[in-house]
Amino acid sequence: MILSIESSCDDSAIAVTEIATKRLIFHKKISQEIEHARYGGVVPELASRLHAEALPKILEACRPWFPALKAVAVTNAPGLSVTLVEGVTMAKALGLALNVPLIGVDHLKGHIYSLFIEKPAVFPITVLLVSGGHTQVIEVRDLDDMTTVMRTMDDSFGESFDKVAKMMGLGYPGGPVIETLAKRGDPNRYAFPVPLQKRGELAFSYSGLKNAVRLAVEEADETDYPDIAASFQHIAVEHLYRKLRKYFKTHPPKRFAIVGGASANGYLRGRIEELLRPFGAPLLLAPLEYCADNAAMIGRAGIELFERGRFTAPGALHCAPKSEL
Ligand code: KG4
Ligand code: ZN
Repeated sequence: MILSIESSCDDSAIAVTEIATKRLIFHKKISQEIEHARYGGVVPELASRLHAEALPKILEACRPWFPALKAVAVTNAPGLSVTLVEGVTMAKALGLALNVPLIGVDHLKGHIYSLFIEKPAVFPITVLLVSGGHTQVIEVRDLDDMTTVMRTMDDSFGESFDKVAKMMGLGYPGGPVIETLAKRGDPNRYAFPVPLQKRGELAFSYSGLKNAVRLAVEEADETDYPDIAASFQHIAVEHLYRKLRKYFKTHPPKRFAIVGGASANGYLRGRIEELLRPFGAPLLLAPLEYCADNAAMIGRAGIELFERGRFTAPGALHCAPKSEL
């Protein structure tokens, strides 16, 4: 078995996965959303302290599997340095105590392997990663053969939902609240500009849209919020839709996936399904409970590294704010 730890942002999670069958045996996550909600976003120092409390509690429940562990996998990049270090330090202590090797896992590769927690892996696959920290399109041919072909120049897709929710005083995380509010609103009431529309480059941008929404919120009262949420969500997704449509002209997808916390968004899923239809390309999604940050996906990616003998010496296991992707 492999034990995996995730602490890159505001979720403390540990999983145990059977190596031979890739079957998830145990997973527990303690989220800090309520603690960060009153600040309208993640406060790194607070997150770090909460990980230090939550991770040992979850680890206690994993004791029965300690004798069967062959490695400890841990997210070491990308993320907040002060929160990553909580998981990495625990992994190092466990490695020493149990005399097992360590495996550093890139969080983004974890999100990609969330697709294969309950299903066998299939390649090649074009992946749209939409989370609080990232918005990018990755051509995935194998664990070690991944190329980012489009990325955001500023804010991320999920982050823009968080910021719009904050403007309206709706708390954190913003994604689910905005999606729910948008169901009651008119997506055509506010004609927010589609980002980078006149620029041909294959890239994303959310800061301009965010500012346009800010101006609307300043002039609105609460009865307008559902329409603002619906119009914002529509344009945020329309931007992804148009850039992907352009990319597909030269790179038609064989199969496509959406991963990351914001892949839970139903409106996004529907629009991407529509975009894929003419290509006959299937849309792959992770089980809903593994869209947001979790340790099951880190364990799943960790097994791939384990099978390739890709261990990291404790002294070489560093926390890095940026991904290799
Ligand atoms: O992957 P994740 O749990 O953490 C990061 O690695 O960043 O993603 C969290 C992000 C947050 O920005 C949250 O607002 C967004 O995903 N999110 C959503 C939805 N659910 C979560 N964004 C849009 N619609 C949703 N339904
Ligand atoms: Zn994530």
